[in-house]
Amino acid sequence: MNQALHAQSFYPLDPAWTEFESALESAASAQGIFSGLKVRVFDTIESTNDLCTAEAQRGTRGPLVVLADQQTAGRGRQGSRWKSPPHCNLLMSVMLHVRGLGDDLLALAASLAVADAIERAAPAMPVECRLKWPNDILLAERKVAGILIEKPVTKGSDLAVIGIGVNVNQTAFPPELAEHAVSMAMICGGPLSRFSLSRELLLALHHRLGPATDKNEIAAAWKARCDMLGRRVSLETGGVVISGIVADIDPFEGLVLRQDNGVLRMCHAASSRMVRTLLAT
Ligand code: BTN
Repeated sequence: MNQALHAQSFYPLDPAWTEFESALESAASAQGIFSGLKVRVFDTIESTNDLCTAEAQRGTRGPLVVLADQQTAGRGRQGSRWKSPPHCNLLMSVMLHVRGLGDDLLALAASLAVADAIERAAPAMPVECRLKWPNDILLAERKVAGILIEKPVTKGSDLAVIGIGVNVNQTAFPPELAEHAVSMAMICGGPLSRFSLSRELLLALHHRLGPATDKNEIAAAWKARCDMLGRRVSLETGGVVISGIVADIDPFEGLVLRQDNGVLRMCHAASSRMVRTLLAT
């Protein structure tokens, strides 16, 4: 690293931002996970996912973690923007080989890992982390984290960039998001450690995506954290909005929707966006 880092954390016991790289590399090494992991930390960059992709195109193969205190062009799923004020949230991308896990299973496993890590980093949290298909992470029915998974090398590679944005210590959201977004600190009543969360994220990603990954276990664990089965939803899929009841979440294929005409339709995570979720009918 040759840049000066100035970012501070709202959590006073966190390592200085300058020390995040070595502290996180040491934590992973002490756990025996992600052998050879490199961590790169920035005050401000356009997007941690973009930086990983650029590294992959230069031949880097990971495992690589990129953290930014702030992003000027943070990206969300399906072309949306991911905005986050300085010093408070976790903006992290993890580039690693995912050993041929299919896209839908990878999305479920990654969101499960983020939910696991959020709960472990805040053991006194009064509510459970829930999941909304395909990979939104919720606390108290509001979004606390999102994931953007990209494949930086198009052909013949299982390299993936898992971009994770977690609202950690943000205390207020813009009016258009306020009803739907929440932070860990808002739920817990005080600031939390971004370092602990990043360390827990690495552990959880290793557990959920590592060599011991069991597809059926991922599917069962995901369904246990998901509130959507039986709910009425509207989805945009392949450019068309369709409505119905969520009949199943198939970890290998996607969401199974029973449409109003009774026909079952499989919706894939990569090409679908939830428009509306209603209460169970
Ligand atoms: C979503 O739309 O829910 C996914 C949001 C993903 C945001 C994270 S922040 C770190 C990484 N870098 C990006 O540009 N996006 C992801």
